Amino acid sequence: MSETVTLTKAEKPISYDINIPYVTVSPDLEGNVKYPKYLPSWDKVWFDPLRPFDYEDPALRVQDKSKPNLLVSGTKVTDIQPCMGSIVEGVQLNNLSDAAKDELALLIAERKVVAFPEQDLIDAGPEEQYNFMRHFGKPNYQPISGSMKDYPGFHIIHRDGNADEINRFLEQRTTTTLWHQDVSYEIQPPAYVLLGLLQGPDVGGDTVFAATDAAYKRLSPTFQSFIDGLQAVHSSSRMINHARMTGGLVRKDPVETVHPLVRVHPVTGEKCLFINGEFITKIQGLKEPEFRVLQDFLMQHMITGHDFQARVRWQPRTIVMFDNRSTMHSAVVDYLDDENGAKPRHIFRLCALGEKPVPVGSEAKK
Ligand code: SIN
Repeated sequence: MSETVTLTKAEKPISYDINIPYVTVSPDLEGNVKYPKYLPSWDKVWFDPLRPFDYEDPALRVQDKSKPNLLVSGTKVTDIQPCMGSIVEGVQLNNLSDAAKDELALLIAERKVVAFPEQDLIDAGPEEQYNFMRHFGKPNYQPISGSMKDYPGFHIIHRDGNADEINRFLEQRTTTTLWHQDVSYEIQPPAYVLLGLLQGPDVGGDTVFAATDAAYKRLSPTFQSFIDGLQAVHSSSRMINHARMTGGLVRKDPVETVHPLVRVHPVTGEKCLFINGEFITKIQGLKEPEFRVLQDFLMQHMITGHDFQARVRWQPRTIVMFDNRSTMHSAVVDYLDDENGAKPRHIFRLCALGEKPVPVGSEAKK
C-alpha cells in the first residue's frame, strides 16, 4: 500500500541553482520589481527535441577586421582584463546594421565577453530583443526555468528575498557559484549568449567568466594529446529530474549528447576545453573514478585560473554578450540582505544556438 510521505523543511531538496527561482515569485515581493512584464512565466508548452540545422557563424562574414560598422567614431572600448573581456560605450545595440552585428560577433569571438552599459535595447521590449538575437543563431527554448509568455526563448533569472531557501542552500553548499557553459547538452549548443540586466543590486551579483582556450593552452603537450580525442556525455537529465522531483514545470524531455572534450573554435581556430560542472555525466572510455579525477582536475584548473578569467560588474541597463564556446561562467550570489535573503536581481537571457562542436582533427576536413 502506498503512503504519502511529507518531507520536512530540512529534508526538502535544495534549489538546483540558487541564482534562479524555480517557482512563481511571491506576490508580496512583486512591489520590488522594476520590469514586471519580465517576471518568470510558467506556460505549459512542450518542446520536441532539437533537429540538426545549418549554421553559419556571423563573425565569419566579416571582411574588415577593424570593424568599421560597429566601432564608429566616438566608441570607447575598455578592456576588463588583458586576455578577455571588454566594456563598449557609445554603441546602441538596437541601432546596429546587419554588417555591424556580424562585426559584433567577431568582437565577441575575439574578446569572449563584451559588456554594453546603458542600452536602449533593455527597454525595447521582448520582440525587438528576440529579433536582435536571431541574427547570431537559432533560439533555444528553456526546458525548465521561468520564461516569458509567448516568448519561450527567454530564460528569466530573478532572485529576490527567499531567505529560507538561501539559508537551506548554504547549509549544504560552501558556495553559490555554479560554473558551466549554457545548454551544453544540446546537439548544437549556444554559440553566443546575451544577458540583459533589468534590475540589480548596487554592488554584487557579478558574473565571472573563464577562458576555455587559454586554459587548454596551459596544459602540457602530453596532457593535451591525451584529452584531444576524448568524448564526453552531456545530459540535462539531472536538471530535469530535479525539476520533476520538486514539482517544477518541465517543457522538454532530457537530452543526452556526446561532444568532444576539446572543441575547435570556428572563428579563432583555437582549441577550447569543452568542460562543464553541471551537465557532463561521463567521459567515454574512462572508468567512473578516472572520469571523476579528470573532471575534477579540469574544473579546478578552470575555476582557479584567475589569470585567464574576467569578472563583469553590472552597471545599470547593461547588456552582456559572451562566446559560450570559449568561456565558462558563473553568477555570484553575494547580494544578500541579512533580513530578507537576496536583494532584487533580474536578468533575461537569450541564447543563439550555433554549430555542432568541432572535434580536434576534423577542422581541416570542412
Ligand atoms: C547564467 O548562469 O546563465 C546566468 C549568469 C548570471 O546570472 O549572471
